[in-house]
Amino acid sequence: MSNDKLSRRHFVQITGSIFMASIGISTLAALLQGCRKEETTPIQPPIESKFTIKLSEHPELAQVGGFKVFNINSTPVIIFRTGQTTFKALSMICTHQGCTTNWVNTAQQFQCPCHGSKFDKDGKVIQGPATQNLRTYTTEYKSDTNELIIYF
Ligand code: FES
Repeated sequence: MSNDKLSRRHFVQITGSIFMASIGISTLAALLQGCRKEETTPIQPPIESKFTIKLSEHPELAQVGGFKVFNINSTPVIIFRTGQTTFKALSMICTHQGCTTNWVNTAQQFQCPCHGSKFDKDGKVIQGPATQNLRTYTTEYKSDTNELIIYF
């Protein structure tokens, strides 16, 4: 009986020691792995899409002050010619809840028909409920080909 208890105690001590040793080894292994230099996969920058407009095909943009709405990737984008070689491109999607704004040229502002937000010519909010400006896109004018590139 006493031998039986002793052997049970001994068994518990041995298994406990083995268990603690295995935890120690796995912890040590984890620590060592943490010190190892990680193999990293370089993060690719997002692929930028571009949309090219042949200006010779769009007389609305021939003069400074001209503008035209394009559908780029299902997004209405308005392009303004702001100078001989400068352009501005803005999404017409309202930042409140996604309605399409209207460009009101006489007021020189975008007006949203859904809840009344207004944005100035640069897309800046001038009246809520929208709190974020309209999205703008980088443009690049290629004088040699008379093309406008919109990056989005
Ligand atoms: S979606 Fe334009 S104001 Fe609400």
